[in-house]
Amino acid sequence: SGTPTLAVIPGDGIGPEVTAEALKVLEVAAPTKFEATRYDLGAERYLATGEVLPDSVLAEIREHDAILLGAVGGKPNDPNLPPGILERGLLLRLRFELDHYVNLRPSRLFPGSESPLAAPGEVDFVVVREGTEGPYTGNGGALRVGTPAEVATEVSVNTAYGVERVVRDAFARAERRPRKQLTLVHKTNVLVNAGSLWWRIFESVAAEHPDVTTDYMHIDAAMIHMTVNPSRFDVIVTDNLFGDIITDLAAAITGGIGLAASGNVNPDRTAPSMFEPVHGSAPDIAGQQKADPTAAILSTALLLDHLGHGDAAARVEEAVLADLAARAPGTTRSTSEVGDAIAARL
Ligand code: NAD
Ligand code: IPM
Ligand code: MN
Repeated sequence: SGTPTLAVIPGDGIGPEVTAEALKVLEVAAPTKFEATRYDLGAERYLATGEVLPDSVLAEIREHDAILLGAVGGKPNDPNLPPGILERGLLLRLRFELDHYVNLRPSRLFPGSESPLAAPGEVDFVVVREGTEGPYTGNGGALRVGTPAEVATEVSVNTAYGVERVVRDAFARAERRPRKQLTLVHKTNVLVNAGSLWWRIFESVAAEHPDVTTDYMHIDAAMIHMTVNPSRFDVIVTDNLFGDIITDLAAAITGGIGLAASGNVNPDRTAPSMFEPVHGSAPDIAGQQKADPTAAILSTALLLDHLGHGDAAARVEEAVLADLAARAPGTTRSTSEVGDAIAARL
């Protein structure tokens, strides 16, 4: 019904560089034209105006069919940029306000991309990271700052409502995959309050899905398995912070952070979902056309799939796979050369 609309937030650092390539690929892959509106949010805007995400801009973004985001985060240790101001005020605010409770982070070791593991096997799993709760809610504070008696807290918020909805989504996803296997990752041996809530909800939803094989791992042991035998995972469901950390490891073992895509999904479609690479603004390589845009390009495949264009999503993935298989070891291409090469295969 009508031209789909896309809010584009290129953001900071390598964000604009990789987003340009993602849009290039989207343009040739999408079966329909997207009406894209660019929103200049991020460090530059904040430093110039003090604005992070004005309510009126959020209201406009909310009216789109989907959001494509590059990365946020300014130059490290900029005295004019308080830590977290963009991360919390822009990225997390979008995830919270738009109810992106499923942070979907697939990891596949594509043929041709290199794993630092000697024997990774076939790696193809997806992390369903809770996106709106946990230690990310900003429930905490600091007392007696700067004194020897300083106390700082970051309270992890876990609601039955929030845990149940993400666990249900993970079971539904596991059910649609051939192996139908779901692993809960938590730290129930220490975080006994949140852990008990996650465990009880996981077990009760499992009873409704007898066709899904389930298991449980503590977060620390899960990192051993992900390094030693990552092919054992199919779907992982976990809390916001554990999910953040393990998806950087997952990226590292499947060809690197430059390939890792993600979707911040609102499964109920009460607001637009947001698609972005797992990586950040990479200030160390920004502005040099050194960033790999593949993660941003694969994020548009997730976006297309979410909007019901599964065929186009598959074509983008195939083009990326072909490009990965053809990447000659030891050679480097610029960000736009990679984007051009993938677009040319479509
Ligand atoms: P980062 O992901 O930006 O960079 C980590 C390392 O990976 C760096 O060495 C970087 O050069 C490399 N890298 C990242 N993306 C790459 C790509 N596409 N191609 C090649 N190499 C790539 O993480 P960081 O350095 O911890 O964070 C930098 C800033 O980004 C911080 O301000 C952080 O808060 C922010 N951040 C934002 C997001 C996001 O917008 N979703 C995610 C992570 C970090
Ligand atoms: C990510 C990032 C964000 C997160 C930060 C920048 C808020 O690391 O998208 O993985 O922790 O979720
Ligand atoms: Mn992260």
